[in-house]
Amino acid sequence: MEIRTDFLIIGSGIAGLSFALKVSEWGDVVIVTKKEDSESNTNYAQGGIASVFAKDDSFELHIEDTLRTGGGLCDPEVVRKVVEAGPGCIEELIRVGVQFTRKRGKKREFDLGLEGGHSKNRVVHAADLTGREVENSLLCAVKAKKNVKILEDHIAIDLITQHHLKDYQRKADEKIRCWGAYVLDKEKNQVLACLSKITLLATGGAGRVYLHTTNPSIATGDGLAMAYRAGAKVANLEFIQFHPTALYHDQANSFLISEAVRGEGGILRLQSGESFMEKYHPRKELAPRDVVARAIDHELKKRGESCVYLDIAHLDQKFIKLRFPNIYGKCLSLGLDITKDPIPVVPAAHYICGGVVTDLEGRSGIENLYACGEVAYTGMHGANRLASNSLLEAVAFAHFSAKSAKNTLSSMKDFSFPSIPSWSLEGVFDQQEWVIISHNRDWIQKFMWDYVGIVRSNRRLKQAKRRISIFLDEITEFYKVNPVTYDVIELRNIATTSELIIECALQRKESRGLHYNLDYPQKNDKIWLKDTRLKSEKE
Ligand code: FAD
Ligand code: SIN
Repeated sequence: MEIRTDFLIIGSGIAGLSFALKVSEWGDVVIVTKKEDSESNTNYAQGGIASVFAKDDSFELHIEDTLRTGGGLCDPEVVRKVVEAGPGCIEELIRVGVQFTRKRGKKREFDLGLEGGHSKNRVVHAADLTGREVENSLLCAVKAKKNVKILEDHIAIDLITQHHLKDYQRKADEKIRCWGAYVLDKEKNQVLACLSKITLLATGGAGRVYLHTTNPSIATGDGLAMAYRAGAKVANLEFIQFHPTALYHDQANSFLISEAVRGEGGILRLQSGESFMEKYHPRKELAPRDVVARAIDHELKKRGESCVYLDIAHLDQKFIKLRFPNIYGKCLSLGLDITKDPIPVVPAAHYICGGVVTDLEGRSGIENLYACGEVAYTGMHGANRLASNSLLEAVAFAHFSAKSAKNTLSSMKDFSFPSIPSWSLEGVFDQQEWVIISHNRDWIQKFMWDYVGIVRSNRRLKQAKRRISIFLDEITEFYKVNPVTYDVIELRNIATTSELIIECALQRKESRGLHYNLDYPQKNDKIWLKDTRLKSEKE
C-alpha cells in the first residue's frame, strides 16, 4: 500500500500539530502517530511555557537565563530567535483556543509562574495541566482542517531515502534525500509507504530508554534512531535532563511533581525533616535542575534512603488545590493529601537536550527532512534546558520550519517520486526467539539507569557500551529475519538511542551541565566548549 501527500508529519505533539496547522495552508497533510492522537509528552506537560510578559522582565534576561543554564553550549542566535518569538507564539496558541490561567481579578494578565534557573516569573500556564490544554486545542484546530488526515496507531518504521531504491548507487557528493517513511498500521498489520515531498520528524523524546522516567510510553527515541539510520547527524545526546521531583510511589509510574511546586515555595526535605538545598546552591530549591537532581542523588546515596520529600503543607490549602488541581488529585488518589503531607520524590529521566541536528529553519542535513520539538537539536538548550523552554522551542521552531517548508514546496514544482519498493511483511514471526529478546527492554532500561544515569564514570560507560552493542546485534538480527511488529520497532529504537547516548557520553571527557562523569569532574572549556556529534555510516 502506498499513500502520497505534500507533507508527512510523524508525531502529534505540540511540534507536529503546530507545524500541521501552518502548512495545511499550502498543501495536503498526513499525520501519523503511533497511539491515540493526544498521547504525547506534550499532553503531560505541567509547569507551562516560558515567555516574557512581566513588566520587570525582558528578552535580555530570558536569554541570559537560558544561556547560563545551558553551560556555554547554547547557540546564542537560536536562543535570541526563540525567546523573541515567544510572546507571538503564546498569542497564536490563544487564537487556537488555549486558555491560560490569568491573575485573580486581572483577566488581562497572565498568572506567571517561577521555575528553577529563571530570574523572573515568566511561565505562562493553564493551572498544572498546561500540556493537556495545549494538546486538546491544537488537535481541535487541526481536525477542523479538511486537508489534514490523522492516522492513529500508525508507527513509523524508517525514513525512505535513496538507500531503499533498488540497484541505486549514491554518488559520493550526493545529498541524502527523504521521500517519506514506511509506516506500520498496527490494526491491519500492514506497512504503508507514506510518500511525501516534505517530511517532519516530530516524534518527541526518549525518556523510556531509562527505568525511571516522567515520559509516557511513546517516548522511545524513534525519531532519533530513524534519522540516524537514514544518515542524519545527531548531537549532544549525553545531556539527559533528570527532573528532580517525580512522585515516589509504587503505583505512580514516576508521575511528575512540577517544578512550579518549588516555584510557589515548596521545600525539599530529608526523611528527618531537615532541608538541604541551601548546602548546594544559593538559589536553593530553585537552582537549575541538574544541581537539584544531583543534590538529591547525593543525599540519597549518602544516607541509603530511597526518597526525599517535597513539602508545601505550609501554603494555603485553597491555593494549593486551585494552583495544582492535577497534582493534588493524583496524590489524593494514592492516599496522600499534599496540603498536609510531604510528597515523597525522586529524580527521573525527563528530557533529552540533544537530538537530530537542524539549522535555524528546522532543516536536518537530509534533503526535505525537517525535525522539530524534543527530537531536534537546534542549539536552544545546550548542556542543560531551562525549565519550560521546551514547549516554547517546539512551537517557535514549528513556525520557523513551516515557513521554510513552504518555500521548499514551491521550489518542487517539477518534482516526481522515484519508484519506491513496497515493504515486505512476509515470513512467520518467531515468537519463541522474541520472548527471549523482549525481556531485554527492562534490562536496557535498568542498566541505562545504573550506568548512564545522573552520575557516570568511564568504567560504567564502557560496560554499558559493551552490553548495548551485544544486544543491538541480537535485535538487528531478529529484525532482519522476522516480520516487523510494533514492539520490535520500539525495542530496536530504544537500543539504538541508548547506544547513541552512551557514545556521546563517552566522547565528552569533562563534566558540564547534565553530563557528570566522576573521572572528569570539572568542566574543560579549552577543549569541550563544543557539541558531541555522531554521524551514521550512511552519511
Ligand atoms: P511529543 O509531545 O512527545 O509528541 C511526540 C509524538 O510523536 C507523539 O504523538 C508520539 O506518539 C509520536 N511518535 C513517536 N514515535 C513515533 C513513531 N515511530 N511513529 C509515529 N508516531 C510517533 N516542557 C515545557 O516546556 N514545560 C513543561 O511544563 C513541561 N512539562 C513536562 C511534563 C512532563 C511529564 C513531561 C514528560 C515533559 C514536560 N515537558 C515540559 C517537556 C515537553 O512536554 C516536551 O519536550 C514536548 O511536549 C515535546 O513535544 P513534541 O511535539 O516534540 O513531542
Ligand atoms: C515541570 O512542570 O516541572 C516541567 C517543566 C519542564 O519540564 O520544563
